[in-house]
This record gives sequence, C-alpha cells and structure tokens, in this order.
Amino acid sequence: MSLESFLTTLDQLERESLVAFDAADDADSLEEVRVRYLGAKKGALKDVQKQMGSIDPSDRKAAGMRLNEFKSKIQSVFEASQDRLGGGGEAGVDPTFDPSLPGIRPNLGHIHPITQTVNHLMEIMGRMGFEAAEGPEVEDPWHNFVALNIPEDHPARDPLDNFYLATASANSDRSVEGEQLLRSQTSTVQIRVMENRKPPIRVISLGRVYRPDDPDATHFPMFHQMEGLYVDEHVTMANLKTVLRVFATNYLGGDVQIRFRPSFFPFTEPSVEVDFLWNGNWIEFGGAGMVDPAVFEAVGYDPEKVSGFAFGLGVERLCMRRHGITDIRDLYSGDLRFLRQF
Ligand code: PHE
Repeated sequence: MSLESFLTTLDQLERESLVAFDAADDADSLEEVRVRYLGAKKGALKDVQKQMGSIDPSDRKAAGMRLNEFKSKIQSVFEASQDRLGGGGEAGVDPTFDPSLPGIRPNLGHIHPITQTVNHLMEIMGRMGFEAAEGPEVEDPWHNFVALNIPEDHPARDPLDNFYLATASANSDRSVEGEQLLRSQTSTVQIRVMENRKPPIRVISLGRVYRPDDPDATHFPMFHQMEGLYVDEHVTMANLKTVLRVFATNYLGGDVQIRFRPSFFPFTEPSVEVDFLWNGNWIEFGGAGMVDPAVFEAVGYDPEKVSGFAFGLGVERLCMRRHGITDIRDLYSGDLRFLRQF
C-alpha cells in the first residue's frame, strides 16, 4: 500500500469515527462504536495497524507517526464520549471509590547516602581551598601505574587485583601496552591534574574505584575514594597532618585525634597509613604521604623546586562511621528501607 492511500484511509476513518462517537447516545451504543474502532480483535484501528506492514520501509516512519496521532485522537474522543454520557457501564466511575479518603502520598526519591557524603566532603575540603578535579573511571596503565611509580612487575598490577578490559582501544596517547582498566585508585587524578597544570595545586578528587574483592561487610568491588593533592613550595608533612585533622574534626565531629603509621606507597615518600580515633578505637581510613620525586619527574615538575602531599581516604568508610552503618553492602543493595533512612 502506498503512503498516500494509507493516509487517506486514516483521514477518512478519523472523520467517520468522530461522527460515530458523537452519535452514540447511551452506554450500549458507545460500546458498539468502541468495538468497531478500537476493538482489540477486529477494530478498524487493528486493521490499519496490519496495513503498516505493506508500506514501503522508507515511508513507515511517516505512516507510524500519523497512526499514533490517529490512535490517541480516537482514544480521547472515546473518553470524551464516556464523560458526556456520565460514565455508566464497566468503564464508568467506580462506585467503590471514596473521594473523601486521604490520598496516598507519592514517594519522592532522594540523594543516595554516598552522593550526600561526597557532596559533604567536597564542601568541607572546599572551605580549606581544595577544588574538585575529575578523571575517567576507565584508565590506561600510564595514569593508574607508570606515572605513579608503580613498575611493570609490581604486584599491584596483577590481573587478579585489577579489572583489565578485554577490548584495548587506547583513549590516551600516553597509554602503555594499549591496555585499559577500571581505575583501582583515584591517585590517577593526581597525574591528570599535574600533567595539565603548574603548581600551586590544591585539589581533591572524589570518585569510584574498582577492585576485584569479594563483597563482605567491609569490601565491595566498587567503592569511592577521596584523593587530595597539595603541591607548592615548602609543603610539609605537618601541613598534611593539619589538613587531615581539620577535615576529620569537621566531618566526624568533635576533636578527632589522628595517627600516622609508617607505610609504603610507590608514589609517596615517606608514606603513612592514616588512622582516626573513633569511640576509643583507632580506625584506618586510608593512605597518605609526601609526593615521591619520581612522580614529579613523570609529570614534568622539578622535585628540587616543589614539594607536596597526597592522601586517599575511603569514602564509604567515612560515611559508615558517621552514620553507624556496619555493612558496606547495605549501601549498594538498593533496599529502599535502608536508603530511606538517610
Ligand atoms: N592510592 C592509595 C590507595 O588506594 C592511597 C594513597 C593516596 C596513598 C595518596 C598515598 C597517597 O590505597
């Protein structure tokens, strides 16, 4: 069938049906007209829908648009006729409907607790002059490892500890081996920021990271980190400790004590684990340290001129401590009874 005759048929049907619906003067005759045009088995609408198949594919879009218009037109004419005849019959007003009953309040969605935490952390760090920076979640080994001084044979690059992607389409000309992976740490963003800017730098980056851990109360294969980076002349470890203490005091409330334990990260020297005192217990919240000169060299900074600190804290851990959440899986179960509490 040609588009033209299809459209003519629809025009004609539309005119005809308007007259028929208009002429219906009781529930029975309306029902008869409804079946004639809208009936699921033999109605006129059904027939024209079938004809769609015989239309030239290049005209089908235009035909479909007109058909939809036709459909909603006769549907609304039918409903208008129903109203005009004051309901009646099955399609009429439900006699059990009690308009005086209180309504059912629609559920309004709200912001996920982790997103709330991310916003809160950005706000606290923003007050200390740290601006937000972002990087991609699909990374290349240069940003996730090499520039962070993590050599080829380092265990952190083990495929068992990373989500490498099967398809290798390098999104960066710095990509090494052409491989890509889901970033395992937000330290990647340190590199991206330093590659593009000159000191002084004071940024945080909040985002998702991925590690193939089996989920349990404290592990999940996807979680969030807050990375901080401060690079300038004469930045010291004392600055690092002050920033983290002020941060923890603001976020967790009260005067939070902070403890550094010697540790190792390839991209910081010296490196520390960061613990906060919480209800009498020291809890580890992440790692930190002074940016390793090798990292400055990788991004083209002069390690003789600038120094800096970096830290990476677990966002879920912070959120869980603050809200008394004991199982990280609750955050990602999608259970509304849990989520509505925040
Ligand atoms: N990237 C480290 C981790 O994921 C944390 C860290 C960040 C340590 C910055 C030192 C400096 O464990």
